[in-house]
Amino acid sequence: MRKERLSEFCVTTPIYYINGDPHVGHAYASIAADIIARFKRLDGFRVHFSTGTDEHGIKVARSAEKSGMDVHTYSDIISRKFKDMSRAVNLSEHDFIRTTEERHIRSAQALWKMIEKDIYKSSYSGWYSARDEEYVPENEVVDGKAPSGAPVEWMEEESFFFRLSSYQDKLLELYEKNPDFIAPVARRNEVISFVKSGLKDLSISRSKFNWGIPIPGADGHVMYVWIDALANYITSLGFPDKDVTSMMSQCVHIVGKEILRFHAVYWPAFLISAGLELPRRIFAHGWWTSEGQKMSKSIGNVVDPYDVIKNFGLDQLRYFLFREVRFGEDGDFSKENMKNRISYDLANDLGNLVQRVLAFIQKIGGNLETNYDLNEAEKRVFEKSKNLIVQMRNLIDKQDLCGALETIWNLVSESNKFVNDMKPWELVKTDTNRLNAVLTVLCESIRSIAFGIAPFLPDTAKKIFDFMDIEGKSFEEIEIRFTNQTFEAPIPLFPKD
Ligand code: MSP
Repeated sequence: MRKERLSEFCVTTPIYYINGDPHVGHAYASIAADIIARFKRLDGFRVHFSTGTDEHGIKVARSAEKSGMDVHTYSDIISRKFKDMSRAVNLSEHDFIRTTEERHIRSAQALWKMIEKDIYKSSYSGWYSARDEEYVPENEVVDGKAPSGAPVEWMEEESFFFRLSSYQDKLLELYEKNPDFIAPVARRNEVISFVKSGLKDLSISRSKFNWGIPIPGADGHVMYVWIDALANYITSLGFPDKDVTSMMSQCVHIVGKEILRFHAVYWPAFLISAGLELPRRIFAHGWWTSEGQKMSKSIGNVVDPYDVIKNFGLDQLRYFLFREVRFGEDGDFSKENMKNRISYDLANDLGNLVQRVLAFIQKIGGNLETNYDLNEAEKRVFEKSKNLIVQMRNLIDKQDLCGALETIWNLVSESNKFVNDMKPWELVKTDTNRLNAVLTVLCESIRSIAFGIAPFLPDTAKKIFDFMDIEGKSFEEIEIRFTNQTFEAPIPLFPKD
């Protein structure tokens, strides 16, 4: 039998600078991309999901110098920490790319060759912010600082330039024709006004230091770290050896708001110049503060994902990050709010529903018959369960991760209310038919909920799948109705201490 080709989907995280240890801000983009990747896989797509580390540039070279290590050893050590973080937060990535890998150097150089017609040599002098890895226009420098607050330094060097100025109209046309190319809308508007205000040619090489990818045929020049970094997305898809067109056309780049311009302006310009396919969407998320303040090493309030996982649990962290704040907006990481979310949403609402229903079925010996008609109240919950994934599909395709969780929790609340109203503990004495109908509807709802939460809370979903003896590999399983099912006695999903 010929196997139908699966539809393709691609999602990426930014690749992380290795100038410090991973923190919750890094985990955030990674978990977001993971949720989307897991949802798409369960929905039958062939998914490419990449993450990794951005290892070249002045900032990393200086951090290595400060650490006293040679830059290669330093890169290996810090990159490893990011790889470990991927495991710690349960990412399901296919590829962890490092920009120091041979395959990437080849890819970035091949990209350079393809855009060479838009490159010319000149010299640059201006203010450079090493922390942001970008030149800052003179009129934006205030008191020796970039708009981001990072210090700037004067640089003068021979440099290659990319004719970004000649892409202004093409980019505006791209945004116009593809209103969903940049999300959320407010960010899209910011990018459009930035491009409308006029684009200057971009310095894309450095000759004052050598921690970068050598430019083909230009001794003494290395690539500007951003052109190197952006190329990671196509390297990961197999460029230049493979045709990356179809995966690229389905690709969603998840990025933080402060690096949107690189992704929504420079990256498409490079791709258009190279004649390569553009991604489907760039989604910019907001920033987390910690207990009301900007996260900063000097304040000592940087949220360490390992601490949170140790104290609260991994699925708890994954839930909190995407329920507490609408994806795209800024948020505050507060332990108090996290405790409340865990106690109310996870333990009281979800945990309780699963516990009370499955324990009850187990207590009465299972074996639910399914030959009955559903009454109105039962039909309502049943239909809502059936529709959960359909509704989520729409929300996940818009990266509305908070909306997807709200939709699931809506069903959780309605199911809990349904248990309270139907009182199965009384029906068991009075009406077995109704009891079967009520419990079957509740099983359907818990099963849909388990599939719905699976991309967000994979460990919790797995526990529910195990209680119910479901494989949990694809949303298609939701179509199978229960018959004569018995269950394991569930252990509490979110035990209270
Ligand atoms: N190396 C570049 C990205 C290149 S992608 C081709 C870079 N690296 S970074 O390590 O500085 O930042 C990586 C991501 O972490 C960014 O998207 C940034 O928004 C995110 N975050 C860093 N701190 C954050 C918070 N406090 N909150 C949320 N995300 C934040 O930029």
